[in-house]
Amino acid sequence: MIKTVGVIGAGQMGCGIAHVSAMAGYKVQIYDLAADRIEAGLATVNGNLARQVSSGKMTDEARKAALALIKGSSDINDLSQVDLVIEAVTEDETIKRKIYGQVCPVMKPEALLATNTSSLSITRLASATDRPEKFMGIHFMNPVPVMKLVELVRGIATDEGTFKAAKEFVGTLDKTVTVAEDFPAFIVNRILLPMINEAIYTLYEGVGTVEAIDTAMKLGANHPMGPLQLADFIGLDTCLSIMQVLHDGLADSKYRPCPLLVKYVEAGWLGRKSGRGFYDYR
Ligand code: CAA
Repeated sequence: MIKTVGVIGAGQMGCGIAHVSAMAGYKVQIYDLAADRIEAGLATVNGNLARQVSSGKMTDEARKAALALIKGSSDINDLSQVDLVIEAVTEDETIKRKIYGQVCPVMKPEALLATNTSSLSITRLASATDRPEKFMGIHFMNPVPVMKLVELVRGIATDEGTFKAAKEFVGTLDKTVTVAEDFPAFIVNRILLPMINEAIYTLYEGVGTVEAIDTAMKLGANHPMGPLQLADFIGLDTCLSIMQVLHDGLADSKYRPCPLLVKYVEAGWLGRKSGRGFYDYR
C-alpha cells in the first residue's frame, strides 16, 4: 500500500510529480540537495495549483490541502519512511547511480524505488540499487499536471508486485498508463525526439525559419506546440541526451543528433530554463 511518496529532485518534473501526488491525497516528501531549488519548486507548485483554482478546476480549500501535504528537505534521511521514492533528477546516469547509492540505505527495505528517466535502461539503473525487483520506470510527461500519460517500464528483475503497485498508484493520479518494454527512450520519446531532431535539421539546412517550422507543424499537423518550441520547453540538454541514448543504444545513423542541437547545448542555450534556445525568453 502506497501512502507516502518521496520525490528526488525539485526540478520541473519532480515538482509536477509532487503536485499530482498531493492532489491525489498522498503525503509527499521532496528531496533536493539545494534548499533554494526546493523553495523555488514549491513556489511553482503553488502557482500551478492557483492557476487550477482560477480556471475553476479546483477549489481553494483543495489547493491548500494539497500544498499542506508537500514537505521539502535537503536531508536525504527524510526519505526513510516513504513507501515509494520517485527519482526525477537530471538525465545523467552517473548522477542517478550515485543518488541510488545514497538513498537505498536510508529507505525502508520494503519501499519501492522508481525512476522518471525518459530514455535510460531501467535494467542497468536497477543494477545500481539494492532492490532491482522493487525498481522500475514511472515516466511522466511534461507538464505533469496537464499530460494524461504515464509510461511504465519494467527492468528484467522488476517483480509483479512492484509493477502492480506502480500501476495502481498511477491510476489514483487520474493518469492513463501505457506499458513500454525496456528499450532506449521507450515509446513516447522514441517517436517524439527524432521528430524534434528532424525539425532542428530542417532549420540547420535552411529549409525554413524557426517560426516557419513551428507554424507549419502547429497548423499543418495540429500539434499544440511547434517542435522547436517544444524542444525549448523540454530542455535542449535533455533532447540531446535522449538522442544520444537512441543513437548509442540502437546504433542507427537515423538517430544522429543534429549538429545544431549539439552546438546550442555547448553554448549553454538550453531552452526556456536557461533563457535562450530556439527562442529568446529573456
Ligand atoms: N501546471 C499546471 N497546469 C498547467 C501547466 C503546468 N505546468 N502548464 C499549463 N497548464 C494548464 C493551464 O493552466 C491551462 O489550464 P486551463 O485549460 O484550465 O486554463 C492548460 O494547461 C492550457 O495551458 P495554456 O492555456 O497556458 O497554454 P496552451 O493551451 O498552449 O497549453 C500545453 C500548454 C498544455 C503545455 C500545450 O502547449 C501542450 O500540450 N504542449 C505539448 C506538451 C508536450 O508535448 N509534452 C510532452 C513533452 S515530452 C515529455 O514530457 C517526455 C520527456 O521525457 C521529454
